[in-house]
Amino acid sequence: MSFDIAALRAQFPILSQTVRGKALAYLDNGATTQKPEAVMHAVDAYYRECNSNVHRGAHYLSDEATTRFENARQSVADFVNASREEIIWTRGTTESINLVASCHGASLKAGDEVIISTLEHHSNIVPWQMACERSGATLKVIPMQPDGSLDLAAYRALLNERTRIVAVTHVSNALGTVNPVADMIRDAKAVGAATLLDGAQAVSHFNIDVRALDCDFYAFSGHKLFGPTGIGVLYGRKELLEAMPPWLGGGEMIETVSFERSTWNRLPYKFEAGTPNIAGAIGLGAAIDWLRGQDRSALAAHEAELLHDATARAEAFEGMRLIGTAPGKVAVLSFLLDGAHPHDVGQLLDQQGVAVRTGHHCTMPLMDCLGIPGTVRASFSIYNDSTDIERLFNALEKVKSFL
Ligand code: ALA
Repeated sequence: MSFDIAALRAQFPILSQTVRGKALAYLDNGATTQKPEAVMHAVDAYYRECNSNVHRGAHYLSDEATTRFENARQSVADFVNASREEIIWTRGTTESINLVASCHGASLKAGDEVIISTLEHHSNIVPWQMACERSGATLKVIPMQPDGSLDLAAYRALLNERTRIVAVTHVSNALGTVNPVADMIRDAKAVGAATLLDGAQAVSHFNIDVRALDCDFYAFSGHKLFGPTGIGVLYGRKELLEAMPPWLGGGEMIETVSFERSTWNRLPYKFEAGTPNIAGAIGLGAAIDWLRGQDRSALAAHEAELLHDATARAEAFEGMRLIGTAPGKVAVLSFLLDGAHPHDVGQLLDQQGVAVRTGHHCTMPLMDCLGIPGTVRASFSIYNDSTDIERLFNALEKVKSFL
């Protein structure tokens, strides 16, 4: 290993516990990542030292909470190369996408077209279906090739002057496919379409630069980036955010209110009605600061090595069928075992301390396209090691002998 994996793992106390009497192999990072001490400390310190509401109080605690909260926003902005007024706090990726589908999608009309892909999570399908239903626009879907990569020729054929929005995932949660999003955005721009990337599964694996990608919207969740649950981010290009109507109405998002009419606050507050998840935002800021303090290229190399080794083991494992083999995918192993239902495999793995996700992974149309009900998914993160791979495959050998 090119870095000290033991020292890294030591920062994630949850990993050293036993579950069901067995050492834990946590391989469900696509669902949520574990949290380093630095994140737990930041959340704890907020409640211990300055718990208070933000932007409101005329007192020390509120000033301090506001400083930590807005510093976290700046950390997010720096992390994705945006300006802080373009960073909106949400509850997570799902809410970020719904915000765009409702507010930017408010300008859709009959005859317009929205493009998504076969690889989408339900959270990047349903909000667009709802927006299309409201407006009379049509939803188009980029087909997929057998290895789990998108059919880019078919994508280009779908683009035309009626395309208003292209909303695709950066990385597939179910298969790990990394889409060529910079090229896809360039093609979308050529027909004047706006672009949204679902970054939920990308942010923990590689650096994101929204300017270099040239996307209009980028959505992600804190909890998949070593931060708390219940906090997420929407990056939006300033001009588009300015042009959009607000999302929820209430406190903070207004400039003035009278019974006759209200006017809206400046960005990003226009989209942040109500008391936000202050502790969550501070925790996410701490997660990002922590991650930026790591050698990310060493982490990426480590993940690539995990994927390489796990894939080699999978290919040699009799009765295992890998689902999703697109070149350059992230460290996700989705698979089926001959004659075994994914749910049963998951339960038997759990009994041996191996945590995976099973089922359709909130991608039912993708599973339909693959002609399967679901998969077993082992999703790796920076703190996994060769022992976790060993535990997974030893446990799978036992599963095979049980079933
Ligand atoms: N979207 C998350 C996953 O893929 C929950 O598991």
